[in-house]
Amino acid sequence: MSDYSNKLGRLRPAPENFLSAEQIRQVQGGRRDFLRRAFAGASAAMVAGGAANAYADETPAGKGSKWILEKPVWGTTLGRPVNEPPYGMPSKYEANLVRRISPGLAAVTEANVAFAPLQGMFGIVTPSGLHFNRSHQGWYEINPAEHRLMIMGQKGLVANPKVYTVGDIMRMQPVSRMHFIECGANSAMEWGNVSVPTVQYTHGMVSCSEWTGVPLIKLLEDCGANLKGVRFVMAEGADGAHENRTIPMSLILSGEVLVAYGQNGEMVRPENGYPLRLVVPGCEGVSNIKYLRRIKLGTEPFGTKDEVLNYVDLMPDGKFRQYTSIMECKSVITSPSGGQVLLDKGLYNVTGIAWSGRGRIKRVDVSFDGGVNWHEARLDGPVHNKSLTRFNIPWTWNGQNAFLMSRAVDETGYVQPTIQQLRKVRGTLSIYHNNSIQTWQVQENGEVRNVQLAHS
Ligand code: CO
Repeated sequence: MSDYSNKLGRLRPAPENFLSAEQIRQVQGGRRDFLRRAFAGASAAMVAGGAANAYADETPAGKGSKWILEKPVWGTTLGRPVNEPPYGMPSKYEANLVRRISPGLAAVTEANVAFAPLQGMFGIVTPSGLHFNRSHQGWYEINPAEHRLMIMGQKGLVANPKVYTVGDIMRMQPVSRMHFIECGANSAMEWGNVSVPTVQYTHGMVSCSEWTGVPLIKLLEDCGANLKGVRFVMAEGADGAHENRTIPMSLILSGEVLVAYGQNGEMVRPENGYPLRLVVPGCEGVSNIKYLRRIKLGTEPFGTKDEVLNYVDLMPDGKFRQYTSIMECKSVITSPSGGQVLLDKGLYNVTGIAWSGRGRIKRVDVSFDGGVNWHEARLDGPVHNKSLTRFNIPWTWNGQNAFLMSRAVDETGYVQPTIQQLRKVRGTLSIYHNNSIQTWQVQENGEVRNVQLAHS
């Protein structure tokens, strides 16, 4: 087991993540039941002042008669006009459930990734405004009328190269599917040691949306592509980083790869690639090209900068693994999780998410004792292909030290490894593809922290 320091010695803990149980009690006015959003509340206390009082009346006294016997102002007056605002927003009392830039990462690099607040989310859909945002050169708001998608290829591979408008693509037959997108570097900081305090920062580079678009294979057919001759496709974005990646033709032939314009029932958000984003289900986030402007067909991998310099995996023998796109089966308990506090003994719902880049989640087991005993969790259906899957399991905390872990199995039979099992094969120098089991320690004072166990 280790503390929050990391081997690089460059990370610092985020003060807003480290309120003590006593401070949390003060913020929450002595609320006795489990503080689902302790992290958010704690942040509010440090950052946003009074907004932290959202749950202040959930005290023993506040649970009394006042709010049920007296008519509050909202029971005796007219409410606001129904179309104000025209685009609805979350309650102001939920203002702390937001994407955040890791204080630790921000200290050592440019702040170029905003993490999703997994600790406060339900079900499997990531609200579009909370979808994690990793950009290599910031995000853009592109006028769809000025955006084009070109499909072309090496000699003899495309009979009729074409340029499509967004409108052209929206006139074709669409599909809508639930898929997760996970950055290849999600959980990257944990390879060598425990380094970040909360699930927002350990796992917050995964999100899940209902994507709507046209299977890329339909566009290739429309251009008269030689589908037997094409072996690889290069997808390129219109952003300043000219993000580009090689996609194997086998994934495209399956019909799963989408040229998407829809996300959760509306157009894709600008931060996520508006107006067109390639969605490559199961593959690391960087393959899901935002602001998609060009598809080039070829016979060899293209060796782009983000598959040669970045997104390669340094192995113990000093060599790099390359073209490792599939995100392996993984899960994490999102609540209780690091930074949260259990304020009393008793019954809790332990909940989390599981996903696999190879298909559906078959099973999730949860341990409360550091991996000695395992209990099958309930999967909250439907279980989609290459999608987040929600699991729940009840647990009675007896006030003693506990070590919470989740272990997912996908439909191929692959079992999520422990961090020590993964290190035996991969060493500690990788950045990408850390799909190991996460352990949260519930301490006797109720504070939950990120730990790694020596034996698992
Ligand atoms: Co990879």
